[in-house]
Amino acid sequence: MRESAVLITGANGEVGHGLIRGLSAKNSATIIALDLESLDEKLRPLCAASYVGSILDAQLMERIVSRYQLLEIFHLAALLSTRAEFTPERAHLVNVEGTHALLQLALRQGSWMAKPVKFLFPSSIAVYGLPDLETKRGGRVKEWEWTKPITMYGCNKLYCEQLGRYYADNYRQLAAERAKVTVDFRCLRYPGLISAETLPQGGTSDYAPEMIHAGARAEPYDCFVREDTTIPFMAMPDAIGALLAMADAPPERLTRRVYNVTSFSLTAGEIRDRVVSAFPGARIDFRPDGKRQKIVDTWPEDVNDDAAREDWRWTPRLDGDTAFGDYLVPEISKRYAARPPTPTGD
Ligand code: SER
Repeated sequence: MRESAVLITGANGEVGHGLIRGLSAKNSATIIALDLESLDEKLRPLCAASYVGSILDAQLMERIVSRYQLLEIFHLAALLSTRAEFTPERAHLVNVEGTHALLQLALRQGSWMAKPVKFLFPSSIAVYGLPDLETKRGGRVKEWEWTKPITMYGCNKLYCEQLGRYYADNYRQLAAERAKVTVDFRCLRYPGLISAETLPQGGTSDYAPEMIHAGARAEPYDCFVREDTTIPFMAMPDAIGALLAMADAPPERLTRRVYNVTSFSLTAGEIRDRVVSAFPGARIDFRPDGKRQKIVDTWPEDVNDDAAREDWRWTPRLDGDTAFGDYLVPEISKRYAARPPTPTGD
């Protein structure tokens, strides 16, 4: 008899770190971690097993499911937007083919159990592609508006949202015998995330966490977007809270499969001001990189997350002031007093 478990892909990334802690604090789920890199040793005791390898390695995935019956999959592994622009073909393989393989695995696991596997998928504000700055400044964007991404990562995420919806609602819809059990696909679109524990790698919203961590270390930092650039952000505790709240929501409360979530929108200049006031040794300049700026300029200044608030009572705990005052500044200060942050792959 296989042991029931929750699988986290991309477990050593910044969301993975928080999620492992959040899941293990919340219940006694058996957590199985999978990542290309070996899991941070602090997190290993919280997991029943941690596998090093790729979601594209079919043999490895078979090995995992031969041992564990997966009840839930948090599929976090992905190449972020900046990295994906350097290797778009690889990004498509990992972000799309990898997600497809996992959806199929979820389908098979669900049919053995006669109960759908919950498939939790983080998407991103990168699915948006606003045509100009006037539209970007035009207010809170709804889930279905301006979904014309200009990056490979944005295209990948948008398509996988659709793929998840297909596997949940229409899989083999014309077959004589339709699948009795499909996949309980649930997706949230994250804004830029900021963690006190880890530094992301390969994202285009990374200027915010990079600025904060460099400021805390009193290292000079050249911000790669203009001072007036605004996108929505969320501190890591709320990102984990949102993922767990969506995972726990009773299915009858969910009116959609893809939800926007956000906490606060700040300009890069406002982030710089907060960093300088918390860490007087910070030295931050603005040296916009035209190509990365162009990507951020297509992402909305704010998103409409009314559906998440209504359906599963999403409310962020940290706003622009408390994210810095109660979480980032104290936690990052403690961390650098002890040791540098761990760079992460997603
Ligand atoms: N953080 C992501 C990126 O910059 C966007 O959601 O790629």
